[in-house]
Amino acid sequence: MSAAAAVVAAGALVVAGLGAHAGAAAGSSLKDLAEAKGIYFGTAMTQTDLGNASLTAVAGAQFDMVTPGNEMKWDTVEPSRGTYNFGPGDRIVSFATAHGMRVRGHNLVWHSQLPSWVSSLPTNQVQAAMESHITTTATHYKGQLYAWDVVNEPFNEDGSLRQDAFTAAMGTGYIADALRTAHAADPAAKLYLNDYNIEGIGAKSNAMYSLVQSLKSQGVPIDGVGFEAHFIVGQVPSTLTANLQRFAALGVDVAVTELDDRIQLPANSTALAQQATDYSNVVKACLAVSRCVGVSQWGVGDADSWIPSAFPGYGAATLYDNSYQPKPAFEATATALGGTPGTPTPTPTPTDPGGASCKVTDAVNTWNTGLTENITITNTGSTALAHWALAFTLPGGQAITSGWNATYSPTSGNVTATNVSYNGTLAAGASTTIGFQATHTGNAAAPAAFALNGAACSR
Ligand code: XIL
Repeated sequence: MSAAAAVVAAGALVVAGLGAHAGAAAGSSLKDLAEAKGIYFGTAMTQTDLGNASLTAVAGAQFDMVTPGNEMKWDTVEPSRGTYNFGPGDRIVSFATAHGMRVRGHNLVWHSQLPSWVSSLPTNQVQAAMESHITTTATHYKGQLYAWDVVNEPFNEDGSLRQDAFTAAMGTGYIADALRTAHAADPAAKLYLNDYNIEGIGAKSNAMYSLVQSLKSQGVPIDGVGFEAHFIVGQVPSTLTANLQRFAALGVDVAVTELDDRIQLPANSTALAQQATDYSNVVKACLAVSRCVGVSQWGVGDADSWIPSAFPGYGAATLYDNSYQPKPAFEATATALGGTPGTPTPTPTPTDPGGASCKVTDAVNTWNTGLTENITITNTGSTALAHWALAFTLPGGQAITSGWNATYSPTSGNVTATNVSYNGTLAAGASTTIGFQATHTGNAAAPAAFALNGAACSR
């Protein structure tokens, strides 16, 4: 864990001390325990989740990796050809940044949640549309993501390639083309193929294995394979560790990307105990494979999980119950990560742990069609911030053309200014100044309000 991330974790959990040994302390968070073992522990989060204070408190305190549940999928990002909508994904990234979490981008190419304009294209236009989508999206998030699921769910259950608009246009070659295009746009992001029912050894995982082997032999940029792990209670494959290990031996990272373990409702104590064993076994499998980089569950709590709507009659699939209280699976997960069994789990207070006390002053200089604005942010709280994100709404007609001392995204409307590498730490009482240049169409006013890490600032 970086020292900066430790400050956030300690502030959220009131864990004593900031050193690496904090990870082994009784009652440690999942992320501290995971980091002490050299892996991450993540969760999926959606835009709706950001408005749920109980959920965000748990997320910020326990997890160090976020996967947007839907916000980076093609139907959200490019709903019509060439029209891009990065706001929802940007909001997840801002939350993550403000809480010292990394982000897995999910996903660039998938047969599902694909807008109908793509599948309606003449076959000879699909490749260009796919490459534009990948280039524009990966460039927008360049430098902000740990990884991308470049191609999601390419296989059928029998190991044949799923037929969709991409295979119709390019055959199997679409996968290599997608990976190369993503690599050109964001060379630092780890590029993954991600699928479900490939966790154990079988026809589908054999197909993924052969594909990865072939891509590696052709020098195609592939860094990892994501194993979704949407399990049914009691059915974690016994070959999980061996399967992760054989992929790792091909020279790629492996990750458990969407873990949940569904139970037929109502869940009784026997099922919940089996679920605890299942979660523990998944964590142990990851820890047993040196190239397993982390485990992410799909949704923070049972109330946020996709399971009840996708698999009617099933639910209770995550580590937290409907009231964000840890379930037996949480305890088992913490124990598998090296935590002390039986120690009470810290229950985060339902406030946004990233919320900050702040004051903002700003100064605008205008001319006929342009303006510059300097914004000074003061941390008026008693805790140092390790990362910050300042949200504000630009008056209509204003568009940021360049900025300094922060990253501005998007450049009009609801903007989030995120710290850059050298000014993320803001001690109690300290100030930092950022600024931007913008065009305007008559209204050169400053934003009416500012919020730092989700909390409103005084002016
Ligand atoms: C799911 C989301 O959680 C739902 O909200 C959405 O309606 C459907 O997709 N595999 C994946 C994820 O890779 O993107 C899916 O997420 C779950 C299965």
